[in-house]
Amino acid sequence: MNTSIRTCVFWTGLAAFALTSCSAPTTQRSTSDKAVFIDSVLSTLTIEDKAGEMTQLTLDMVCVGSPYNLEEPHRLDAEKLQNVLVDLKVGSILNCGGHAYYPAQWHEIIGGIQEAAARKASGIPVLYGIDAIHGTTYTTGGVLGPQQIGLAATWDTALVRTFSENAAMEVLASGIPWNFSPVLDVARDARWPRFWETFGESTKLVSDMGVSMVKGYQEGPSPIAATLKHYMGYSRPLTGKDRTPAWIPERQLREIFLPPFAAAVEAGAATVMVNSGEINGIPVHVDHHILTEILRDELGFEGLVVTDWEDIRYLFSRHKVAADYKDAIEMAIMAGIDMSMVPTDTQFPVLLAELVHEGRIPESRLDLSVRRILGVKYDRGLFENGGMPPSIEDYPNKADLEGGAALAARKSITLLKNEGSQSNSAALPIGDKGRILVTGPTANSLNALNGGWTGTWQGTDPKYSTPGRPTAVEAMRNVFGDDRIAHAELEMEFSTADIQNVIRSLKSRPTQCAVVFLGEMPYTEGVGSTEDIELFSNQQDLVKAIHATGTPVIGVYAGGRPRTMNNIEPLLDAFVMAYLPGDYGADAIAEVLSGDFNPSGRLPFTWPRYASAHLTHDCKHTEIVGDKDFNPLYRFGDGLSYSTVNTTGIQILSGDSATIGNTVTVEVTLENTGDQNSTETVILYSQDRVASITPSVDELAAFIQVVVPAGATQTVSLQVPTEELGFIGRDNTYIVEPGMFGLRVKDQVAEFKLLAR
Ligand code: BGC
Repeated sequence: MNTSIRTCVFWTGLAAFALTSCSAPTTQRSTSDKAVFIDSVLSTLTIEDKAGEMTQLTLDMVCVGSPYNLEEPHRLDAEKLQNVLVDLKVGSILNCGGHAYYPAQWHEIIGGIQEAAARKASGIPVLYGIDAIHGTTYTTGGVLGPQQIGLAATWDTALVRTFSENAAMEVLASGIPWNFSPVLDVARDARWPRFWETFGESTKLVSDMGVSMVKGYQEGPSPIAATLKHYMGYSRPLTGKDRTPAWIPERQLREIFLPPFAAAVEAGAATVMVNSGEINGIPVHVDHHILTEILRDELGFEGLVVTDWEDIRYLFSRHKVAADYKDAIEMAIMAGIDMSMVPTDTQFPVLLAELVHEGRIPESRLDLSVRRILGVKYDRGLFENGGMPPSIEDYPNKADLEGGAALAARKSITLLKNEGSQSNSAALPIGDKGRILVTGPTANSLNALNGGWTGTWQGTDPKYSTPGRPTAVEAMRNVFGDDRIAHAELEMEFSTADIQNVIRSLKSRPTQCAVVFLGEMPYTEGVGSTEDIELFSNQQDLVKAIHATGTPVIGVYAGGRPRTMNNIEPLLDAFVMAYLPGDYGADAIAEVLSGDFNPSGRLPFTWPRYASAHLTHDCKHTEIVGDKDFNPLYRFGDGLSYSTVNTTGIQILSGDSATIGNTVTVEVTLENTGDQNSTETVILYSQDRVASITPSVDELAAFIQVVVPAGATQTVSLQVPTEELGFIGRDNTYIVEPGMFGLRVKDQVAEFKLLAR
């Protein structure tokens, strides 16, 4: 596209070009066109324009009512639009005003905002951002799939990409070009209340899944900008509570927490959101080393860095590293922040402009950030259509998008135990006869299956749940038939008397088995911080009481973090981890329980047996000195199917030595002795026998998913690039050391010698 025409269109006023239809695909524009265009825009901007561009406010700030307390129905406020978007020139707005909207409402909101933005002198459209973290979380009736922890359990990166492409289609169809997703924090502590927002405990799995999600959002048919969050080290606060101090040595930061961000930056992610916490006494929002030296200079990230919610203000109000708001702004911007998610005051752009006029921040520093912000706006095509939403008639057909979410839900469900200890035969699948008692506090709640960021921030209000999607018990009725299901409803806070009622109902008629829906109701962020990671005592008492009747107990856990339940797990004949599977999760659970779907999920974290014994699969040898030291309830990668698939015959095809830089090929044989086809995830761990930094017992090195037909034997090969067998050395740089390595799949181990180049 011709730059001079573009520039000319721009300068005829944005309202005009908002209506100009220019359909050149964003990906086909040349880098130099983009740079010329951005320079031409930048050269016309005042300091106030630039400060405005670097400001992001919540939607509440332009709606009728006050922040966190909008008048219903939510609607734009003309005076505030003028003040915020025209006078203060605010360049970005985020989220909903507290709850989800229908697509038509989104169109009205986005359209109204962009019309107002077009009236300011620069006419630059607003970059609208939202947390569509498991589908369109803030669009009523949108397609909601599993939360990230469930997506990770599928171990299917291609499926995650499709799911993310579909999510992007719906988000963009509302006129929103920017998504605050994926979470690339590595979940190392079950207490952390955002555990479920992650892809689990393995740096490699988080990296691979993260790259797929970024590509899904940014490279699908309706691309939107992804956000890598929360950069970095957010998931490992010492107390386990949200936004509390972390102490993470640089080696561990680089070994565990940085690689997913590095991989996703490499994959082209457009934006990064910063960790709200502090690491080693320094709030990340003022950490020049993390925000500039590592992110920009080392990783070469050229996109936009946005703060998290109110985090510049917190520098003086909570962290106490700045004397006042103005100091805080100076510190954060000079550390490397491009845009402040303010989000509820109008002082930020004013103070930022003042700081430049006073010479405390050079204007060139603003130019750097504004270039990046305009770059994202340009890439998202906002200068072509003024950021106006597409026609509502073009809103995607839900039926076309549901398949990805439904398949992801099915593939996430993880069968962790199926012993049938009381019935002598496997408890699952439930056969086609007999009464099934369904109970437990998560049995009849769609919210419990979706988790936080669903309809509302905390995801707790059923008013905003997707109409027509079943709860677990409703799906069980559909699959097993109404007459077989007896539902004993329980709220979260159920009492001993309620348990007695359940037992009465159980005993009232012969009952084949009880399916007990355990877990947690939705929460996120600080609201989900907990003093105690053990499963709630009333849920444990319920399992004990049902078990005492002699009825087989099948536990289904709907929740995003592993609560300890060592006392009752032995009482369960079968145990199914459902995570937070989303709107299609109930069907998926019912299909797994009935055997209509052969489960294939694999646990993306280690489920601790005891609260004080949470180790991860990549723990150190000295953490496993005795037999009992690493004895989790379930291991990373655990998951059964209704077939028996044996793994044998590990071989390193590439020989017993390999030179650094070469790829090692490993083969194993899978034999499905069952009578059902089975989707198997072959998980390969590397074991560095001797290293200059104490090696982990196991490191996830590669994984591959195959379908092994019933009765079939097949060989599967996996590739391990030896460049990936390194670690962060004593000088905090990445090294690969020669020496002996083991490669393990289940109990199969082969060794090879890694030779220096
Ligand atoms: C969360 C982020 C989120 C942002 C915007 C913050 O409180 O930490 O994950 O993207 O709010 O909603």
